[in-house]
Amino acid sequence: MLSESNDRVPTGAGIGLRLPHIAEIVATLPPVPWLEIHPENFLANPHATELLLAARRQYQVSVHTVGISIGSAHGIDRSHLKRVRSLIDMVDPFLVSGHLAWSTHAGEYLNDLLPLPYDDETLDLLEAHIDEVQEGLGRPYLVENPSSYVGFGASTISEVEFLSELVRRTGCQLLCDVSNVYLSAHNMDYDAHRYIDGLPADAVGELHLGGFAAEDDEAQPGGELLVDTHATIVAEPAWDLYAYAIRRFGRKPTLIEWDNDIPPLATLLAEAARADEIARATLSGRAHRAVAG
Ligand SMILES: [Fe+2]
Repeated sequence: MLSESNDRVPTGAGIGLRLPHIAEIVATLPPVPWLEIHPENFLANPHATELLLAARRQYQVSVHTVGISIGSAHGIDRSHLKRVRSLIDMVDPFLVSGHLAWSTHAGEYLNDLLPLPYDDETLDLLEAHIDEVQEGLGRPYLVENPSSYVGFGASTISEVEFLSELVRRTGCQLLCDVSNVYLSAHNMDYDAHRYIDGLPADAVGELHLGGFAAEDDEAQPGGELLVDTHATIVAEPAWDLYAYAIRRFGRKPTLIEWDNDIPPLATLLAEAARADEIARATLSGRAHRAVAG
């Protein structure tokens, strides 16, 4: 099992370092404790990497991979893993994470994070792949719960049981995307609080919060599907669930995820400040509604 000291893990809320904001962040150094990057945005962009390294001199950084695809039946792309490792060695992040999903097939990179059946065969596959990723990156990997819209009839265990077993087998950690829990519970008709209760709390090293949108559910006339757009502010019920998650997991580095229709930097900073306020109020015993804006 890989382990590393977490004495430099920031407790406050961070924001994504997305390309439209990178020059502004380097120039203005906004008061936020950490930044998250998608390494794939920097691997072929030397100018952006230069700015990233300038930002890194001022901020802790978390690396969130979107192309490692631990769920691919064809295995891990080792050359991609090596490229990510090189960037990680330059940036020295406090965490590295990725999704419980697959997004590549036979060398083709797809634009979606696709779901997996939760059964013994997939567990064996993911165990081998997470071992390979942790070995290749030289550090623990945090696996993020996906946003779900459909399930597999072949699944034999729940997502929480699946993630817990991965933690047990590989020593990986978990990134709990609270918004994904909320919207998946809505879409898949399960209890979001029970999902949070079921995760192995000691393994949760980071939280995500992102905006989602309601769309008509074509499979269910009159029904509503929540879609993980990362294109708007965090919804009120997701803030409520965040307070619940903080009570269970304690204060963890929390990312405000916003990847589409990217707003002014000030909007992201305000969302991060709200996450900090809710965390402080929750842990000091006050109802977070008292500080919710
Ligand atoms: Fe997320």
